[in-house]
Amino acid sequence: MSVREEFDAWAAEGRDRGMEDRHWHTAKHALGRMPVETGHRVLDLGTGSGYAARALAETAAAHTYGLDGSPEMVKNADSYTDNSQTAFLVGDFGSLPFADESLDHAFSMEAFYYATDPNETLRELRRVLRPGGTFFCAVNYYEENVHSHDWQESISVEMTRWDMDDYREAFREAGFYIGEQDTIPDRETDIPPAEEFPTEGFETRESMVERYRTYGTLLTVGVVP
Ligand SMILES: C[S@@+](CC[C@H](N)C(=O)[O-])C[C@H]1O[C@@H](n2cnc3c(N)ncnc32)[C@H](O)[C@@H]1O
Repeated sequence: MSVREEFDAWAAEGRDRGMEDRHWHTAKHALGRMPVETGHRVLDLGTGSGYAARALAETAAAHTYGLDGSPEMVKNADSYTDNSQTAFLVGDFGSLPFADESLDHAFSMEAFYYATDPNETLRELRRVLRPGGTFFCAVNYYEENVHSHDWQESISVEMTRWDMDDYREAFREAGFYIGEQDTIPDRETDIPPAEEFPTEGFETRESMVERYRTYGTLLTVGVVP
């Protein structure tokens, strides 16, 4: 199934808003660290419901572009948005519709690893960002997070599972410096008391604590020299 087919279906089922609710727990901390200033041009790669693009436009007065390969996601994101600083567009991670060095910063939450060729996507980001620009790449699906390993079974789009070293190496290979890399804990997802386990998703309370509070979201920040 293509990105378009898979995520158009998600959008039609309202799963875009569900993702927004869950991802916001950690995405907001990554967004809060971005060096975005008034008037900056910022890309949200794989925007989904568009919450990150809206947040950066509303809090930092940036011009934001939410790009997504699913026309239905873009349609929904547009319908949730009421500001003139944010635009949504359909596009693919492999060929970004922006001129060289035309953007100040880029953000992506739980989307980067769906790229057909993640190295190509990094080269594209490197191309469109200006010197000193940053790419804040946030993912919950990564090698060290053992609780994410079976996610591919329920998604038809091929996903790339890199470890923390792989992210740093690929960013450097594409021409970024590494600004920072760490994990952001999700402290908001409710974790039931031990006697309620096993649950549908977790055998033990310890494993659920590890998934959310320890592994949370991996953030890798690339800086253009
Ligand atoms: C799991 S959702 C995350 C959405 C949003 N960033 C969030 O945090 O809720 C991934 C999004 O990336 C988009 N996407 C995945 N692969 C893509 C690609 N190769 N090109 C463009 N968009 C893509 C999907 O359509 C989907 O909306």
